Amino acid sequence: MPEQGFLAFPDDFIWGVASSAYQIEGAADEDGRGLSIWDTFCHKPGAVYKGHTGDVAADHYHRFAEDVDLIASLGMHAYRFSIAWPRILPEGRGSINQKGIDFYNRLVDVLLERDIIPMPTLYHWDLPQALQDTGGWKKRDTAKHFADYAQVMVEALGDRVTRWITHNEPFVVAVLGHFTGEHAPGIQDPFATFHTAYHVLLSHGLAVEAMRAAAPQPLQIGITLDYNPIHPASEREEDLAAARRFDGVRNRLYFEPVFLGRFPEDMIRLFGALAPEVRPDDLAMMNTPIEFLGVNYYTRMVVRHDSSTPLIEAVEIQPQGREYSMMWEIYPEGLHEMLMRIWRDYQPPAIYITENGIPVPDDLDHDGKVRDYRRIRYLRDHLIQAHRAIQSGVPLKGYLHWSILDNFEWALGYRMRFGLVYVDFETLERTVKMSGHWFAQVVRRNGLAPAERAPFLPE
Ligand code: FCB
Repeated sequence: MPEQGFLAFPDDFIWGVASSAYQIEGAADEDGRGLSIWDTFCHKPGAVYKGHTGDVAADHYHRFAEDVDLIASLGMHAYRFSIAWPRILPEGRGSINQKGIDFYNRLVDVLLERDIIPMPTLYHWDLPQALQDTGGWKKRDTAKHFADYAQVMVEALGDRVTRWITHNEPFVVAVLGHFTGEHAPGIQDPFATFHTAYHVLLSHGLAVEAMRAAAPQPLQIGITLDYNPIHPASEREEDLAAARRFDGVRNRLYFEPVFLGRFPEDMIRLFGALAPEVRPDDLAMMNTPIEFLGVNYYTRMVVRHDSSTPLIEAVEIQPQGREYSMMWEIYPEGLHEMLMRIWRDYQPPAIYITENGIPVPDDLDHDGKVRDYRRIRYLRDHLIQAHRAIQSGVPLKGYLHWSILDNFEWALGYRMRFGLVYVDFETLERTVKMSGHWFAQVVRRNGLAPAERAPFLPE
């Protein structure tokens, strides 16, 4: 008999952890790997916090077997990792680097030996530099090259890997990579922004088609989109309109082509001459049926009207009296709100939370433990919301925590620690944090017991 008040998850619920290639692998110059735009960006003075790079990162390339042991020891059902395109095709296209394929073959085999479902993401931001040199995502050709690369990977792993994610967070690729320039390739060009989004979404559809054609067995393919609930700073008409625009740029621009086969009318109008020419057959391709949606949730955004901000005429504000992590407002209810909205408006056949997590300034205590109570509280509060969404009928099939290991957090370098496992970046030694042990217990019981819900943790 389950304990009273126990929040049980469905029997087939998939629990897991997530990572990405450039953030953990290291071995940047090994076994024939080509350069990616992040190698170039990191070595640009001032681009990344304290000049940090992913050259070594968590050295997962050499320690993957140990890391899979850790994932298994926590009882995880699934592991979401990403494949480094430049390891497979050092020039982005053309000749294949067998050593790159061998690495992912080994990783997949070790995962399967431990009964862990591999969930590779094909693109987690590390475009081969050679393709950037010919125009990158601004160019339509890149979409075709991506589909070819996806086909290579399905030919190599498709006999054992059945769940695939094409892209991670196209919004970040378009906006942080090509509008604000905070991420590689560091471009600040409003014209490139929507074109990038368009080509990334097109490449998703082309890849799905190529993967299905190459697969020796039926695949479950999805895309990971990031989502923020957008709330108006006030009920004033101009703030409500600002929130609607923000939601368009942040969310609808990506969800509508994938699930409804259209770009939002108001966004086409807003971008005007900066918008790409939309071809109906491209929309049909972006809208190719998929088996699931992956969605990443970290926070919400509160916005108000601001006529001095070009294009969007809206700015984000930090509401008073709220709790913040090192990066974002902590807003667990937003996870439920997001899932309800996605389900209502887009009806994906299945949803996985493919990322959710918090940066905490973790450190080893004198006894070698990492007491990251704040992460436990974050996890608990978000899992309660995920459970609520399932109760409301949302087809939520799994939850993958970001991240398994502390890693290279893009422009913020190693300053942000997101792992359930602490990494000492001097010795590369791993230590499971309290949150890792706590999460393992949730997975083991397939739910949260009342004791975990009670405020026993330092708030
Ligand atoms: C997401 C990224 C992931 C990580 C987390 C904190 O946007 O997909 O790589 O950086 O944020």
